[in-house]
Amino acid sequence: QKPIILRGRTLTFHAAPNGPEDITAFSYEEDGALLLSDGKIKVRGPFAEVQSGAPDGTEIVDHRPHLLLPGFIDTHIHFPQAQVIASWADQLLDWLNDYTFPAELRFADKAHADRIANGFYDALIAHGTTTAVAYCSSHPNSVDAYFEEAERRGMMMLGGKTMMDRNAPEALCDTAQGSYDDSKALLAKWHERGRARYVITPRFAITSTPEQLDAAGSLLRENPDCHLQTHINENHNEIAFTRELYPDAAHYLGVYESFDLLGSKTLLGHCIHMTGHELQVMRETGAVAVFCPTSNLFLGSGLFDKSGIESAGIRTAIATDVGGGTNYSMLRTLDEGYKILQLQRQRMHPLTSFYWATLGNAKALSLSDRIGTLDAGSDADVVVLNAGATQTMALRMETVETLSEELFLLQTLGDDRAVVETYVAGNRQKSVRLKP
Ligand code: GUN
Ligand code: FE
Repeated sequence: QKPIILRGRTLTFHAAPNGPEDITAFSYEEDGALLLSDGKIKVRGPFAEVQSGAPDGTEIVDHRPHLLLPGFIDTHIHFPQAQVIASWADQLLDWLNDYTFPAELRFADKAHADRIANGFYDALIAHGTTTAVAYCSSHPNSVDAYFEEAERRGMMMLGGKTMMDRNAPEALCDTAQGSYDDSKALLAKWHERGRARYVITPRFAITSTPEQLDAAGSLLRENPDCHLQTHINENHNEIAFTRELYPDAAHYLGVYESFDLLGSKTLLGHCIHMTGHELQVMRETGAVAVFCPTSNLFLGSGLFDKSGIESAGIRTAIATDVGGGTNYSMLRTLDEGYKILQLQRQRMHPLTSFYWATLGNAKALSLSDRIGTLDAGSDADVVVLNAGATQTMALRMETVETLSEELFLLQTLGDDRAVVETYVAGNRQKSVRLKP
């Protein structure tokens, strides 16, 4: 890959901003640049310095006056729900039965999975998302389709086969042993092949027998460097049904705890209706709470208590949860997250928002040495944002005076139209579409 310089207003975080004036938490360069080469960010700095240190004749892409940020990271999304998004459904369990399971059934067909994978990745790139953590369907084919397309595009993607052996259509259900065998084979095939990372993926307690959760625990013990993802405490009916299915558990999280599913690489989707005991167990095990704002509003699930969870010493991440979530855009996601926090008197500063969707999510995935930052040595995944992309935005932009105001405008009014370009491993991908 030939070296290339991106010129623009660079913004990257080093830590969670400790309030709006915490200038040690980020680096912002008004006339900044990145030197990209071999899929990596080689240099970040003022344009003049980056250019003088670059090989003669290095191509310069001038993105001024736009912002250059690390590509967005989506820590919870469902690949086989690309055609479930925007379904007029009731709350979680009805939504699953009426819309989601039927759509996921179609992924038994590899050709269907391949076609949807192509569109799914186009959507991620269009919205500036360069890494996502996905549930595939229960069909091993869907995992191949998912990672094959990621590999074609050079993207760092995490995901795995959904393990589910009850309370769903028969054709979608696997078995405890079958799901163990399939997951193990997929893990051996894909984990750390290029940029791919396999994620052990029991859907949630309702759709797994104790035998299957036990198998998931074995897989995690055998592969401690893999992530594990599941759902918890999203909806009151879900919680009641779980208590019926696992009457001996002290609480919902106790189900996952008893099968050894909790550790610092465990991603727990939703975490809305948490008890004090559950927060305690999460803190002790280091599991991550994943906030899915557009989904929580769309399915009427409830309000994520960011400050309560973080003050309990638990790491958090933010995600779209498409197709329960209603948009691939991390900007739309931050906006709805902001509103959920507003309802609870937890106003989030825009610097905190953009930290969360980049370095914060990378840290929650223990991948901040590779992604979520523009620091030299990290992977060259970059998003270019235009805060004046629409007429509404441009008009408001005329009165914007600070970086924080601009970020807040992007978050509140922005979507894929604000994404000028998305670079993956140093390659332009939004304006240059890959053929199916
Ligand atoms: N709980 C179990 N499966 C799902 C799913 O697909 N989406 C959401 N939002 N919650 C779930
Ligand atoms: Fe989900």
